[in-house]
Amino acid sequence: MGNSAIFFENRQISISLQKIRIMKIAVTGANGQLGQSLRKIANSIQSEWFFTDIDELDITQDDAVEDFFKQHTPDVLIHCAAYTAVDKAESQQKIAHKVNHIASYKLALQCQKTNCKMIHISTDYVFDGRHYKPYVETDRCKPISAYGQTKLSGEIAVRNSLSDAIILRTSWLYSEFGENFLKTMLKLGKAREELNVVFDQTGTPTYAGSLAEGIIRILQDYQTENKWVTGIYHFSNQGVCSWYDFAQWIMDEAKLDCQINPITTEKFPTPARRPFYSVLNKAKFENTFEHHIPHWTDAAKACFSQLGL
Ligand SMILES: NC(=O)c1ccc[n+]([C@@H]2O[C@H](COP(=O)([O-])OP(=O)(O)OC[C@H]3O[C@@H](n4cnc5c(N)ncnc54)[C@H](OP(=O)(O)O)[C@@H]3O)[C@@H](O)[C@H]2O)c1
Repeated sequence: MGNSAIFFENRQISISLQKIRIMKIAVTGANGQLGQSLRKIANSIQSEWFFTDIDELDITQDDAVEDFFKQHTPDVLIHCAAYTAVDKAESQQKIAHKVNHIASYKLALQCQKTNCKMIHISTDYVFDGRHYKPYVETDRCKPISAYGQTKLSGEIAVRNSLSDAIILRTSWLYSEFGENFLKTMLKLGKAREELNVVFDQTGTPTYAGSLAEGIIRILQDYQTENKWVTGIYHFSNQGVCSWYDFAQWIMDEAKLDCQINPITTEKFPTPARRPFYSVLNKAKFENTFEHHIPHWTDAAKACFSQLGL
């Protein structure tokens, strides 16, 4: 520990010899969008990473979870695994509840028992969407879908059983990985002459790469300054749009000749109800972690570039 001085081409440079702690970081759901985005930038922080998905660690298996913690003794758990099929969750509530609520609760208990910190990922679908201004973390939750309900139950269970939890609520996640709105629009935009997209659901798309960078920021603060500020935080990209706006932007940016027709949600019924308004206020995250979150159009351009477009 301490400071030292070295000379380089006649210039004296002071360097800190303070030891950086090599953290052990475990990730659940690592084959998902956020998990893969984290893998991509994991080496930007000096740590030992354990990336797991259902084949290596099924989070609904209590014994497997306990063994995993015993074997790897993680310092931080980033819990990305979830049952994310929003419409299917309406008819498969039992399994959605088991993964999003019960398994999250059990992971939090393990973290508490082994002194491991946890970053738990949640959703804007914990809100009913009747707001008129961006949701802050203390706004009342009132999910209107089974998925939203299971995610809210997971959040509450994590908060009540683990003192060192950070909960990040995000929205409209997309990436270069897996299936998502941006990739579906690109595919359909090439195949169809026109598409109908809802214009009365307003929120903010979130590039999983931006969220992964935000998570790395939290880890860096912990590693270098021992700073770990528990609580709920909202994290999406900046700005506001409807799904219609997002689709139109994708067509323009990709120069696809596909007409996007705005339609109401009423004209596009889905098994699960979705909030009409779910813009998240990100000020708490930006201020606490001194981290600038990019606008959704800049983030979407970054995703385009990763897709080679
Ligand atoms: N996607 C969105 O639009 C969105 C919006 C707001 C919040 N979120 C939240 O953000 C987080 C990350 O979302 P994402 O889009 O990256 O999700 P994702 O792509 O669906 O990835 C989730 C991963 O978890 C795995 N998983 C499911 N059940 C599991 C189990 N029992 N044990 C271990 N792994 C299991 C999935 O495997 P399978 O694919 O084999 O099931 C998948 O690889 C989730 O908490 C989600 O609720 C997502």
